[in-house]
Amino acid sequence: MRKNIAAGNWKMNLTIEEGNKLASEIVNMVKDEANTETQVILIPPFTHLTSVKSLIGSSKNIFLGAQNCHTAVSGAYTGETSLAMLESVGTTHVVVGHSERREYFGEDNALLADKVKVILEKGLTPIYCCGEKLETREADAHFDLIKAQIVEGLFDLSAEDIQKVVIAYEPVWAIGTGVTASADQAQEMHAFIRGLITEQYSLEVSAEISILYGGSVKPGNAQEIFSKEDVDGGLVGGASLQSRDFTDIIKAF
Ligand code: PGA
Repeated sequence: MRKNIAAGNWKMNLTIEEGNKLASEIVNMVKDEANTETQVILIPPFTHLTSVKSLIGSSKNIFLGAQNCHTAVSGAYTGETSLAMLESVGTTHVVVGHSERREYFGEDNALLADKVKVILEKGLTPIYCCGEKLETREADAHFDLIKAQIVEGLFDLSAEDIQKVVIAYEPVWAIGTGVTASADQAQEMHAFIRGLITEQYSLEVSAEISILYGGSVKPGNAQEIFSKEDVDGGLVGGASLQSRDFTDIIKAF
């Protein structure tokens, strides 16, 4: 079901002490918020999942996410983490295909499609990332590239399953650079993505999917970006590492 979502991707940052401090500050601030319609997802490194989960406790609108997973159920995959393990510590969401995974770890659409499938089979929610690099946008090839990422990553799913996916549009040129896509650029691409889903499935299906924007979301720009019709929230990196900034972003809805 389509929801407003503020997801904080901590990436490879913070020690356990720092992570616990951040999570407890966020949990306390969010608890005091009247607006519980917004889903908040904390996405710490694997080592912090258990302790962040215990800080989240029984909160109804704060969820635990993982930054990656392996497709196999278990076995000889040194250094990897299975969905059963993630589920066993209370993870409900898993990021798939972040541009850093695509760029530095060679993850392609075919592998990511497999990850999305196994996450859904496990009953968890994939947050499927797509986004173009600057040179792609400058070559005016960004719509084609996003189309390929969406079609190859998601369109093997049934109409029922794709509605359970959260999509994050994150233009690579805006990630960690301080350069944000304008609210209109975000809206344009989000409407394009929703249109692809409408064409392939139906209007009912595309209307159910939350599409998040990511790339230098900050307290100062969140409200304008989130106010756009097809933007259902944000996948936030840098600003999610500061409790005040992240909670201000949550309040931007
Ligand atoms: P940023 O990262 O907010 O630091 O730009 C966003 C992301 O990579 O998810």
